[in-house]
Amino acid sequence: MRSGTRWPDGGIPSSVSLVVESPFASFEELEREALACTKCPLATQGRSQVVFGDGDPAADLVFVGEGPGAEEDKQGIPFVGRAGRLLTGLIADIGLRRDEVYIANVVKCRPPGNRDPLPDEIEACRPYLEGQLGFIDPAVVVTLGNFATKLLLETKDGITKLRGREFPFRERAVLIPAFHPSAVLRSGGTALAQSRADFVRVKRALGRVSAERASSQGAPG
Ligand code: URA
Ligand code: SF4
Repeated sequence: MRSGTRWPDGGIPSSVSLVVESPFASFEELEREALACTKCPLATQGRSQVVFGDGDPAADLVFVGEGPGAEEDKQGIPFVGRAGRLLTGLIADIGLRRDEVYIANVVKCRPPGNRDPLPDEIEACRPYLEGQLGFIDPAVVVTLGNFATKLLLETKDGITKLRGREFPFRERAVLIPAFHPSAVLRSGGTALAQSRADFVRVKRALGRVSAERASSQGAPG
């Protein structure tokens, strides 16, 4: 895996199609299907609703967490509990509001007792996350914690090693892993400082990749 981003000829391909063979006709259809989903055991293990995602479906910046907790399950919105307040604060610290970004999870239904999502559940739910990323087509994806990072980077490396580094993602985006806000709440000071530093890197990458994309628009493919 490479760290640091270099596309061929130093530019982002301008001719990459936005939606790569999505099985969903539109973002709205994707959301409708997910909200009625019973594809994995989490559908019958105590969820009160599917937590699809929150924010701007045209955002340049997408955060991917692990799975809904109790508060998210209750409200139907990702990252609204304690970890969510920390995430919302970190987003505000880089000058953005929640409604300017998009926030989703690896699994859309709450695992009972906040246990880890199982491999089969992650795999069953994956098309929804892939669909979200395909339609949104963000410039920067931030994976929060090990589950999102391992899934989207297809790596076995852990978050402590990967956090704050930048990886090329799906032809014309970059991915930056960061600690999960729940882990930051558990570990305190140093982890919080590292997260703040990682979010500053996110902000910089967002400016750079968005500008590169804008300047490659209309350039010969
Ligand atoms: N933790 C997550 O990973 N996702 C949420 O939505 C809330 C807490
Ligand atoms: Fe469907 Fe995902 Fe919920 Fe499983 S976790 S029931 S795959 S929406």
